[in-house]
Amino acid sequence: MKKYFIKTFGCQMNVYDSQRIAAILETLGYTAAPSAPQADLVIFNTCHIREKAAEKVFSDLGRLEIIKQERAARGLDTVIGVVGCVVQAEDEQIAKRAPYVDFATGPLTYHRLPEILAKIGRCRGTTIIDTEFPAESKFDFLPPNRSEGGCSFVAIQEGCNNFCTYCVVPYTRGVETSRPVEDILTEARRLVDGGSLELNLLGQNVNSYHGEDAAGKERNLAYLLQRIHEIDGLRRIRYTTSYPADVDADLIACHRDLPKLMPYLHLPVQSGSDSVLKAMNRRHSAGQYLDIIGRLKAANPQLGFSSDFIVGFPGETDADFEATLDLVRQVGFIQAFSFKYSRRAGTPAALMPGQVEEKVKKQRLEILQNLLFSLQLKFNKESVDKVMPVLFDIKGRHKGELVGRSPWMQNVHAVLPASARNTIVKIRIKDANVNSLSGEPQD
Ligand code: SAH
Ligand code: SF4
Ligand code: F3S
Repeated sequence: MKKYFIKTFGCQMNVYDSQRIAAILETLGYTAAPSAPQADLVIFNTCHIREKAAEKVFSDLGRLEIIKQERAARGLDTVIGVVGCVVQAEDEQIAKRAPYVDFATGPLTYHRLPEILAKIGRCRGTTIIDTEFPAESKFDFLPPNRSEGGCSFVAIQEGCNNFCTYCVVPYTRGVETSRPVEDILTEARRLVDGGSLELNLLGQNVNSYHGEDAAGKERNLAYLLQRIHEIDGLRRIRYTTSYPADVDADLIACHRDLPKLMPYLHLPVQSGSDSVLKAMNRRHSAGQYLDIIGRLKAANPQLGFSSDFIVGFPGETDADFEATLDLVRQVGFIQAFSFKYSRRAGTPAALMPGQVEEKVKKQRLEILQNLLFSLQLKFNKESVDKVMPVLFDIKGRHKGELVGRSPWMQNVHAVLPASARNTIVKIRIKDANVNSLSGEPQD
């Protein structure tokens, strides 16, 4: 029986895609291998968002070539495939820099894997490349999704039309497309029947969702959330990643009206400076962002926010950076991701004047992260002595320990019987640090 191993880089959408690729391979008779050297087929699912992410793919591929040679010395054949966003952006580079790669397909064409694998048998020694933006939707060709535990992802939207000037995603994932309402509901029900208590609806710009319902009428994310909320047995709903300018009144009302919708929202702002936001081609100002946060908080005072930030965007001055720090203090984010601006070939910002020195980017990132970590620590410390429902889905490092997520996406550690895995347990929080909480079950 042939074995596969998939290594996933990048965002949650890639994690979802890797699960779907695994499902395709299993319909072809493959089983999962615990590591690359034990696999007949190794797939890297790649990310192109920053230079470091893309370069890591090439350095890890180098290691894979050695594994392929070692296996060949033992008489074992290894097929190497690369999928995901690096392929869409750098298909020729892959064939050139890593000619031992057998196939490369973009994030929208991996449903063609069965045909691609069949072709490889016939033409070893060349790299099969498929980076078409296909007319068909891959979702129509994938085997049914299955529940892998308490929390599952469901892709509802893919691609992005925003064209932020720093970002490769509109080029790698293509234009925005939304899956039909009924297809999503079918997948969601199947996952809940399979044991998922939490569904996380995914999209590059998830709140621009505009899929068709059974009658062919276009529906928004709020409608979809309401329909998903009706699923018996489902306990928690999240959605990610949202674009601030596309948060509408219907969506805000969901945070007031839908108890299963978790009180945590990832709403990237990128910068607190209006001139930087404009240069980034973001369709919102800092003031508009704060206004949306205010309306969301009014709808549900329990809501905690997280964000992404980019420091050192071309032209960013000290005053612009200070404006970001101000916005962070005003919102009081409970979690955040922050990055140094990375120049991506083919994006407009790569050619902008005023590229910021690496040293300055590094300093700004450190200052921003210190502020963000202090806010996160403050929020986590405030959780101590509170009792909260935690969905435990993974084993901890210590014996008898499980790790789960609080409603606010905090990692919570607790010693629990193994049977508590993939259930929701009320936990009294005893201790907190910047990255996690720990506590005990509350009887
Ligand atoms: N669709 C999502 C996520 C995009 S990628 C969104 O709009 O938020 C995740 C994050 O990576 C972005 O929010 C941004 O903060 C960061 N990012 C994107 N391109 C980048 C670049 N060229 N340099 C540094 N960070 C970048
Ligand atoms: Fe990239 Fe901007 Fe689209 Fe997010 S909204 S994926 S940052 S272009
Ligand atoms: Fe990376 Fe593509 Fe996701 S570039 S962040 S894997 S959409």
